[in-house]
Amino acid sequence: MAAKRRVAVLISGRGSNLQALIEATRDPAHAAELVLVISNEPEAAGLSRAAASGIATDVVSHRDFAGRPDFEAALTARLESAGAEFVCLAGFMRVLTDGFVERWRDRLVNIHPSLLPAFPGLDTHARALEAGVKVHGCTVHFVRSEVDAGPIIGQAAVPVLPDDTPASLAERVLAAEHRLYPRCLDLVADGRVRITGKTATADVARPPDWQFLNPPAAKP
Ligand code: GRF
Repeated sequence: MAAKRRVAVLISGRGSNLQALIEATRDPAHAAELVLVISNEPEAAGLSRAAASGIATDVVSHRDFAGRPDFEAALTARLESAGAEFVCLAGFMRVLTDGFVERWRDRLVNIHPSLLPAFPGLDTHARALEAGVKVHGCTVHFVRSEVDAGPIIGQAAVPVLPDDTPASLAERVLAAEHRLYPRCLDLVADGRVRITGKTATADVARPPDWQFLNPPAAKP
């Protein structure tokens, strides 16, 4: 089996997506191995998840630096010394400059809790409810300098139910995130995602034909 690609994860908090990546990459068949987790918040719960799994952790607090470029230079230095080939953002709450994004171009991946290009930015679940959409979800994409944009690697959809609150919808989307992110990372690390201009295409078998209807089709 080919050597796994070395992946670092940047977090700021809870780290449930990190946990999903930790569990998935334990599988010898997954193309990635996690070599480092960096948090900009010293108290991030995700740091303990990584440590409990024997993954190296580091705290690089943005507060210790005069500006974004210095903060990011410290991040890149850590990532390089860990030999990271790809970087996953998983609830990393700092906006990155063009310099960092270009340094890691096509090797920097993010997960966002909406079906982009709908609802970039914050409070995606409340905004989805307000807009009255019937299907919502999450997106894994390559990072570009425009926030929550960049070639889409994969998306997962969930229904929006009539009695949903932002919290109940967030929970449903989060479960989808935990399935989507490891799958997309596997494809990227395996070199099976081709980027052409603004789009990314994964080399995968054609999925079975299906349609997702919400409300569901009436019973015959
Ligand atoms: C997730 O909803 C992710 O889509 C967004 O931030 C949240 C992080 O959650 N970017 P967690 O820290 O992975 O639990």
